[in-house]
Amino acid sequence: MGKEELMKRLERRIKGCQKCPLGQLRTNAVPGAGSYDAEVMFVGEAPGYWEDQKGLPFVGRAGKVLDELLGAIGLSREEVYITNIVKCRPPENRDPTEDEIKACSPYLDRQIDIIRPKVIVPLGRYSMGYILRKFGFEPEPISKIHGKTFEAHTLFGKIVIMPMYHPAAALYKPPLREELKKDFEKLKEVIKSDK
Ligand code: SF4
Ligand code: URA
Repeated sequence: MGKEELMKRLERRIKGCQKCPLGQLRTNAVPGAGSYDAEVMFVGEAPGYWEDQKGLPFVGRAGKVLDELLGAIGLSREEVYITNIVKCRPPENRDPTEDEIKACSPYLDRQIDIIRPKVIVPLGRYSMGYILRKFGFEPEPISKIHGKTFEAHTLFGKIVIMPMYHPAAALYKPPLREELKKDFEKLKEVIKSDK
């Protein structure tokens, strides 16, 4: 089975999933969007209001910030893959719980296995914590490690992990937007050096 078929199957499973209580509360599950051959995968936290309405990741205000950051380094949404650790919206946009992350993260694991990205960018501390632990690193405060690279070795080759602040944080704390811009510049270098 090719990537396309594997991903489509997985998306159908996510859309019908009731493995945690968020399944009862959602309008639409948000599996993720972008290229199944993406070299770079962005992993946010969980869908918000607009994502739940549309079934697509990062289509609200945080998504606009992400679009600008991508555009500034010449990347389009179509060539990267964007998803979240938790695929259904938590009520009132609260943080996802440990149980929800535990129930939902196997979908993200599978997406990583199918897409086989070269670079994973966790956005925000929940995603950073999950991805770093998954690849055997100890998470540290995001203020300390954003923009740093961690090299993981997997069965399908090397993956570079580069945690960043969540784009929504930049909406509340404008200085973080500057940090994000700088980190995206570093990301551009990492992608280039990997060719
Ligand atoms: Fe299933 Fe994840 Fe949605 Fe929970 S959040 S119902 S585990 S898809
Ligand atoms: N915030 C996230 O973490 N993910 C989205 O898809 C939208 C906002």
